Amino acid sequence: MSARSSLTVVLAAGEGTRMRSNRPKVLHEIAGQSMLAHVLSAAPQGDGAGLAVVIGPHHEAVVGEIKRLRPDAKIFVQSERLGTAHAVLAAREAIAAGADELVVAFGDTPLISAETFARMRAALQGGAALAVLGFRAADPTGYGRLLIEGGQLTSIREHADASAEERKVTLCNAGVMAFDGRKALEILDRIGNANAKSEYYLVDAVGIVRQQGGEAVVIETGEDEVRGINTKAQLAEAESVMQARLRRAALDAGVTLIAPDTVYLAADTTFGQDVTIEPFVVFGPGVSIADGAVIHSFCHIVQCSIGRNAQVGPYARIRPGTSLGDGAKIGNFVEAKASTLGAGVKVNHLSYIGDTEIGPNTNVGAGTITCNYDGFGKHKTTIGKGVFVGTNSSLVAPIKIGDGAYIGSGSVITRDVPADAMAVERSTQNNREGGATRYRELKTRGKKKDG
Ligand code: UD1
Ligand code: MG
Repeated sequence: MSARSSLTVVLAAGEGTRMRSNRPKVLHEIAGQSMLAHVLSAAPQGDGAGLAVVIGPHHEAVVGEIKRLRPDAKIFVQSERLGTAHAVLAAREAIAAGADELVVAFGDTPLISAETFARMRAALQGGAALAVLGFRAADPTGYGRLLIEGGQLTSIREHADASAEERKVTLCNAGVMAFDGRKALEILDRIGNANAKSEYYLVDAVGIVRQQGGEAVVIETGEDEVRGINTKAQLAEAESVMQARLRRAALDAGVTLIAPDTVYLAADTTFGQDVTIEPFVVFGPGVSIADGAVIHSFCHIVQCSIGRNAQVGPYARIRPGTSLGDGAKIGNFVEAKASTLGAGVKVNHLSYIGDTEIGPNTNVGAGTITCNYDGFGKHKTTIGKGVFVGTNSSLVAPIKIGDGAYIGSGSVITRDVPADAMAVERSTQNNREGGATRYRELKTRGKKKDG
């Protein structure tokens, strides 16, 4: 990347009313991340790359998301929605600081890639005053059309303002633009609102640049990258494009996906080498999977790290804050939450492990439940290394089980168990000789008489 400074202004003031949701549009998620997060992670980063985000009034949740992702970003509120150029100018103070390049992106266009931003910036370095991102739309209805004369981009016509002839043009405006930073403010200030919607249209920058004798160039990309999201149906389509991309990237990185189309990844899922993911697995955000791990079918895994050669599932649910050590096994119908399982730990069947720490090589028997919640607060369970927890045990937290301890099956453990102790908590078994025979006679006597 060049040493030139840049400012990226992301327009995110949309209410998203067509999403039929109370959530601001740019916070709707794709692959476990908000649309805004996708755009911000593709936008130019690093030294000399400033960021400004223009949001709508009362969008506190958007402010929170921006601060979480890019604490260095400047946030501007556009109090009235008077058009895309008006929105950019809400960030006037940041633009006036005079970066070499001004990049404008839309917060509702989440599939945009970092390479595309780089291509647009490269066009400026080639001498253009303005670079416009364009694409060939299968159905151009609603998009601004890029009008080319003599091989030169002369203007962009919004759909509402376009003639019947112009509406036949399929080369459309994706929305992303890059300006020569020294000229940007002057151009933006000259944009008026004499159009069908009486809005200040960013696209009018093209005509102004041309009048000034500057060059405006088109950088073309595929439609999939610049889908704008206005509805839930478009959000779902973008999700499927993003999933296809993420699956392909995982396959290219050497992950074995037996049935890729059935695996849902998050944008930040990371894999080591020789990882296998069986069909029908869903990853939420924040999952890392180390070398050689196998995720069996029908698992739901969120915010956790899975150690080398660990095995998960089938039918396991791993919730946030869980970490599995190397070679650990989480088997079928096991739920784990906010727990650390050491190397070689086995929780193979039908268990709930919550707020728990388990030392290496401990075996947790089928049906074991950590009782972490007393109706008021959550409590911690600490299990040492080399412990054997017999099946169907309840460990009532807060509780500590020492290294090498042995818990008899069916125990309800409410007091700490010292290292190497055997804890058994159940009533004494009473075998009555012949009792079963007597019981059967009692139950069948009446019936025989009646018959
Ligand atoms: C815009 C372009 C159009 C392009 C299309 C691509 C203009 C005038 N039109 O049209 O050429 O083909 O995108 O998807 O630029 N926004 C604000 N404040 C405003 C208006 C918009 O922040 O006052 C934000 C929106 O939240 C959105 C983006 O700007 O993120 C685009 O606005 P939108 O209303 O979706 O524009 P389109 O009609 O789709
Ligand atoms: Mg739009």
